[in-house]
Amino acid sequence: MTSTPDIRIVPLREPEIPALVALARAIWHDHYPSIVGIAQIEYMLDQRYRPEVIRSQLGRDDVWWDALRVDDALAGFVACERGEAAGEIKLDKLYVASHLQGRGLGTRLLRHAEQRAVSLGAHRIYLQVNRNNLSAIATYRRNGYAVAAETVFDIGNGFVMDDYVMAKSLAPDCGR
Ligand SMILES: CC(C)(COP(=O)(O)OP(=O)(O)OC[C@H]1O[C@@H](n2cnc3c(N)ncnc32)[C@H](O)[C@@H]1OP(=O)(O)O)[C@@H](O)C(=O)NCCC(=O)NCCS
Repeated sequence: MTSTPDIRIVPLREPEIPALVALARAIWHDHYPSIVGIAQIEYMLDQRYRPEVIRSQLGRDDVWWDALRVDDALAGFVACERGEAAGEIKLDKLYVASHLQGRGLGTRLLRHAEQRAVSLGAHRIYLQVNRNNLSAIATYRRNGYAVAAETVFDIGNGFVMDDYVMAKSLAPDCGR
């Protein structure tokens, strides 16, 4: 008989950063080659997942990193930050280990981020997702997010991100 897994979402701790970087690298190389290609994957991993970048964010009071632990092993993560406008939170990162996707864990992480946003007094949460990341877009739609804008971000080195901005209005009891 298989036992029910122990699933927790807890603040990311500094000693877990190397494991998180390795997990991010594995998910990106599983998921994004057909969407952005290997060169852009490496460029974006270096921009966003260098240990010192994450370490400096852990020391800030306007960025929140949370780790998903399944049976005590790191299985995913979510990162949020204050949005550009007052009352808004940006969901900046949402990742679940490839072999655990499609089991509702991403939805749990989303709900956690929404609860945090509400507890910070936010009325809107938004994110950017690559327009060709169809599985993630479907997950966001099922969770109440809608496309608010189409954008092209120049991220340097000749790379661009063709994204949707997706957003959800938050009710005070949202995510409970
Ligand atoms: C996008 C992502 C975070 C979503 O996480 P996830 O854990 O796979 O998402 P969920 O399981 O909550 O939902 C996705 C699917 O699982 C299904 N699901 C939800 N609960 C389930 C459960 N208990 N058992 C089985 N399936 C379940 C959902 O209905 C959905 O299935 P469908 O596509 O057939 O409708 C994850 O797939 C991921 O890391 N993708 C790669 C990286 C990425 O694109 N990140 C987003 C960047 S913007």
